[in-house]
Amino acid sequence: MEKVVEAVRRAESIVVSTGAGMSVESGIAPFRGENGLWSKFDPHEMASVTAFRSDPEKCWTLFKLQIEECFYAEPHQGYSAVVALEEHGLDAVITQNVDGLHQKAGSEKVLELHGTLNDLLCDSCGNQKKTEDLVDEILEKKIPRCECGTVMRPDVVLFGEPLPQRTLRRAWSAVENCSLLINIGTSAVVQPAASLPLTAKRSGAVIVEVNVEKTPLTPSMDHFLEGKAGDVLVELLERLES
Ligand code: OAD
Repeated sequence: MEKVVEAVRRAESIVVSTGAGMSVESGIAPFRGENGLWSKFDPHEMASVTAFRSDPEKCWTLFKLQIEECFYAEPHQGYSAVVALEEHGLDAVITQNVDGLHQKAGSEKVLELHGTLNDLLCDSCGNQKKTEDLVDEILEKKIPRCECGTVMRPDVVLFGEPLPQRTLRRAWSAVENCSLLINIGTSAVVQPAASLPLTAKRSGAVIVEVNVEKTPLTPSMDHFLEGKAGDVLVELLERLES
């Protein structure tokens, strides 16, 4: 921890990259592992672009659960610590999460690689709506439709779809120009997000991982902080500001 605190003090530009483990302490289930979403649902049947085209109502059983879980979740103290890192050189938060908790906590420089549950999208006419305007109906199991009649979907990246290219370009640029990257709560198995830390390292950055367990990227890390994201980030900030 002390070495990471020093690295933060020295860093000119910091990038934080987060995955589902960041939100576990806010009560949101991760994707992999025993209690993960993908142990209960097959993503190819429920969260892929082909599944949505062939049976959007079926996909909405999963979307509704995700919206229900994420919409009323509150960011934990670790999120506030990430906000506070803006005073210490944080230039970007790159997240694979679709729950919007970084913004809810007050982070301003958030790049959502996998989209957001907070917006709804019509694939036919491109119309967008705010999820919050329809959340009561969605939770009553009403499937949102666009004025054109098409079933809408959350504006998240479904399996088989490309990532939002502009966001991805901004993420690569932040990573290539940072001097410290902190990778938090991701199993590091989904590309291209899993490549961000090594890209940062190749560009000369120090890379740090925060996770409750080791991942395929752990051996490449300069520092591994084992523990829950909230606990570790709060301790990091306390030491930084003491
Ligand atoms: P995963 O569910 O694959 O991994 C979550 C990671 O968080 C694991 O490495 C856990 O060990 C770790 N973890 C769990 N609790 C933690 C805690 N309290 N503090 C810190 N770490 C903790 O989630 P992601 O890596 O985010 O994509 O998954 C990547 C993508 O796969 C998701 O964005 C989603 C999924 O398919 C799409 O839906 C497009």
